[in-house]
Amino acid sequence: MMDEYYRYEYEDNGQYCYPHTHILKNKLDIHDKEQLFKAEQELSSARYFEISQRPIPGDFSLQHLCAIHRYLFQDIYEWAGKIRTVDISKGTIFCLTQFIEIEFKKVHDWIIANNYLKDIDDKEEMAKKLAYLIGEINMIHPFREGNGRAQRVFIEYICKNSNHFDIDFSKTTKNDMILASKESSVLNYGPFEELLYKCLVDIK
Ligand SMILES: Nc1ncnc2c1ncn2[C@@H]1O[C@H](COP(=O)(O)OP(=O)(O)OP(=O)(O)O)[C@@H](O)[C@H]1O
Ligand SMILES: [Mg+2]
Repeated sequence: MMDEYYRYEYEDNGQYCYPHTHILKNKLDIHDKEQLFKAEQELSSARYFEISQRPIPGDFSLQHLCAIHRYLFQDIYEWAGKIRTVDISKGTIFCLTQFIEIEFKKVHDWIIANNYLKDIDDKEEMAKKLAYLIGEINMIHPFREGNGRAQRVFIEYICKNSNHFDIDFSKTTKNDMILASKESSVLNYGPFEELLYKCLVDIK
């Protein structure tokens, strides 16, 4: 049928999913969505615990974010730590694959220009800068899956490195995270500022 012939799926699952499904191919060879979700949560949480105790060293570049992603998802996906090769959207269209590196370079340059946010000791200002940063990283969405978890660790490391704040994302909810992300995609960083302000903890 013509319809079928011209059909174009924005999210081309061919490379990443088992044939005719939306289940990501995985090292555990789980073909059930719920089961995969559960295993992914458990395994990445265990890895998260390790690298929140012993941070992965890096310079806050894309390579650093990739190293974080690789560590978190090493047990689950072959492509852990590798930037995606397909374009994806969640209503919001994320950065096209060919621009991921160049766009992240801009983010990295901004981090350097802002001295890794090390000089900021005012919570409101820190929330503002972090809102911009997480919003930008989220719009790049470098990975096929696991962007939220990787970018939150990245932000945690920025805070650790700053010596003024810790950040505790358990003080917010997944839903608020998504709402703030959606707003930041239309350049309204207010909700992310508010969310991050709630999560920032002064280091005494
Ligand atoms: N409609 C949207 N527009 C923009 N960003 C969105 C949208 N929906 C979700 N997000 C962002 O994408 C992230 C989820 O990305 P992904 O599924 O790749 O990673 P994840 O590790 O499973 O994330 P999470 O643990 O937050 O669910 C969310 O944390 C949120 O920041
Ligand atoms: Mg996800």
